[in-house]
Amino acid sequence: MAVPRPMQLALLTALGLAGPAYFLFQIEDQKTFRSILISAAVSLAGFFVARWLVPLVAQKTLSRGICGKDLNKQGTPGADTPIPESAGLAPACAFLLCIICFELLHYYDADSIVAFVTSGFRGKLRLEALPDAWLVDYNAALATICFMVFLGFADDVLDIRWRVKLILPLFASLPLLVAYSGGTGVAVPKPLQAAIGLPSFLELGPLYKAYMVALTIFCTNSINILAGVNGLEAGQTFIVACALLLHNLIELSGFAGGVPALRDAHLFSVYLVLPLAATTMGLLAFNWYPSRVFVGDTFTYFAGMTIAVAGILGHQSETLLLFLIPQVFNFVYSTPQLFGLVPCPRHRLPVFDPKTGLLRPKDKPDWNLVNLTLQLFGNCSENALCVRILALQVACCAFGFGVRWALQGIYK
Ligand code: UD1
Ligand code: MG
Repeated sequence: MAVPRPMQLALLTALGLAGPAYFLFQIEDQKTFRSILISAAVSLAGFFVARWLVPLVAQKTLSRGICGKDLNKQGTPGADTPIPESAGLAPACAFLLCIICFELLHYYDADSIVAFVTSGFRGKLRLEALPDAWLVDYNAALATICFMVFLGFADDVLDIRWRVKLILPLFASLPLLVAYSGGTGVAVPKPLQAAIGLPSFLELGPLYKAYMVALTIFCTNSINILAGVNGLEAGQTFIVACALLLHNLIELSGFAGGVPALRDAHLFSVYLVLPLAATTMGLLAFNWYPSRVFVGDTFTYFAGMTIAVAGILGHQSETLLLFLIPQVFNFVYSTPQLFGLVPCPRHRLPVFDPKTGLLRPKDKPDWNLVNLTLQLFGNCSENALCVRILALQVACCAFGFGVRWALQGIYK
């Protein structure tokens, strides 16, 4: 490992947060700026809570036998040491605490909170009238994510069958689905309007809700199957959360005079992805190569669901899908194995060669991005493989921003 572990994590954090930090300070509307600042402060606390909780959860899961072998280290001394599973429970709980605390703070006027803190906790907090629709959406999001964490943990403990596992997010998305009061129509892309004579706005009704469910099933499972290399599950989550954060802050920074509903949608997404990024970093401190804990399906389902909910309630699912190109590709490329056309082992991982310390694909490589990266770019260490796939993730997010920029005014 040429670059030391703490330095790798510091670089990843700087890469993810530099852009959002820059655009945060470009936001002109003071109320918007301050409410994001409060969300950031709560998220920072969430980072420390997650970092504190991970070892506690790990100790408990290990003592209960909820643990696994690090499969990419077979043949090395210590390869048989059990590694605690389901450590994702820690960031998930820290995240839920964050968004509950943030809701509590949101009852008060953001300016008065900042004044209260900067004056050394003196003065009075002013109550803010929150729209009912906001509260319903926010609490529905909370219930859905909470249900997903529960089902993810149930899966880790009970080892649910693959086909049942696939549809768990459907159940978790129910609170969001029944409470959803937002629009069920979509703005039709301009090229489509011209090509097949569609109106500029299409009411989709129940189809829109079906799309919401499909997105939750896709996001959760696609993160869960781009996995198996130390740091990859949490790493991709951190990058996608930061990309969504950047997207929202770019939009909010140039917002003067925009439609208030659109601003609120961007803010809603910020309130979810900021604590997600922060608590995920708290987990990465332990899950980065060499992993001292495994994240478990508790984490992959929690992270996928939070990203999906941010995409839905933030009205940014198309942008989200651009950021998720590696996951979309991995999902599509995996279908022959997932649907049994090609034999699918329990773990679709590479082989570790203890002599060289490098990973290589099996003789008959599994059909996923992890193996394809090795096939295309050559054998490498586990740490390097994770960094390569995360670099691809960053490149796809940059591509997503590029596509958005290029299609501005043309697409919608
Ligand atoms: C998914 C993948 C599976 C992959 C697994 C690894 C599909 C259909 N399923 O299954 O191919 O092997 O994730 O997460 O694509 N592990 C490591 N190193 C890591 C992370 C995990 O060795 O960095 C191993 C450990 O033994 C750990 C186990 O994977 O106990 C966790 O697997 P789990 O998340 O339960 O697998 P699935 O999500 O079912
Ligand atoms: Mg998994």
